[in-house]
Amino acid sequence: MVAMGRWAFAFLLLMGVAELAAARVPNIDARGEASSGGRDLLHSRRLVMKKANEVNKDLIIAASEGNAKAIKKAIAGGADIESKHGDQEDTALTIAAHAGHLAAVKALIDAGANVSAADTEGTTALFAAAQEGHVKVVDALLKAGAEVNAQRSADGGTALIIASQGGHLPVVQSLIASGADVDLAADGGATALTLAVAGPHVKVVAALLEAGADPNLGNDIGAVPLHVAASFVGAGEAMASQLIASGANVDAATATGLTPLMVAARVGNVPVAMVLREAGADAGAEMEGGVKATDQICGCLEDGEGESACLEGVCGEASKKETVEKIMEILA
Ligand SMILES: *[C@@H]1O[C@H](CO)[C@@H](O)[C@H](O)[C@H]1NC(C)=O
Repeated sequence: MVAMGRWAFAFLLLMGVAELAAARVPNIDARGEASSGGRDLLHSRRLVMKKANEVNKDLIIAASEGNAKAIKKAIAGGADIESKHGDQEDTALTIAAHAGHLAAVKALIDAGANVSAADTEGTTALFAAAQEGHVKVVDALLKAGAEVNAQRSADGGTALIIASQGGHLPVVQSLIASGADVDLAADGGATALTLAVAGPHVKVVAALLEAGADPNLGNDIGAVPLHVAASFVGAGEAMASQLIASGANVDAATATGLTPLMVAARVGNVPVAMVLREAGADAGAEMEGGVKATDQICGCLEDGEGESACLEGVCGEASKKETVEKIMEILA
């Protein structure tokens, strides 16, 4: 595990890099009822309707269990391949894709399932498979013509964004090879690169940068990937170096003037502060209220004894005396 203090996590939230609303694909229980509640299919008044509902139910159970044979049987028995299930109205294809059932997904595609079908949140089968890291299912859907850059209506998320957030490198590579737009942003402005950095998923960050992702795209409050990288002690160093090598602006400032170097000072991130300074980051930059990076160091020079020696900073977890001294040195 990469070291990330509680404050660093709070920082991610502050930077607007909170998790995308998780795409919920309802679990289907043994009776084919969406566990999120929903209607009791047996209450249908008309016998014909009841029969149709039952084969549709058979289809959804088969999809959720990954039973390709049963899928074919349900379709042959008159099931509507596009029938919707659960509160979010997912199709059999999305449910099978989410569960990673390749044979079931192929059977549904072969039977003519709409690979672009979206649920009430705009979640497609491709998004559901990408979220769970099912690369073979992702490939099957792409081959069948799934729209690689489809954005969810709920939050603007794409398959690439959700796969990057989850650190699913093979899926990310496959989506990029199929023409995914690496710079498409979700609502709020978070890109695949920002969310990969927030993982932190170093290899995904490298893959996205290699594919030409723009390291200077900020979100709605002006936070760029380098701000996020600076909050990670450990993985932050490699990510910051990669971002800078790809042209990241080391002095990028948010709407309030916060720079990556200030973030590194706040969390006591010595390696990232060094990388930033070596790349020419300005230690004298001021944010709102004339506050500089040195004012934001969190910790004491005398291990808490001499109160006057404590730097107030924007404190979360206080850095050790040694760390404070090193950061001071780097900022000097
Ligand atoms: C497939 O689903 C998409 C998204 O819901 C819809 O726009 C499209 O019309 C559907 N295609 C067919 C052939 O029904």
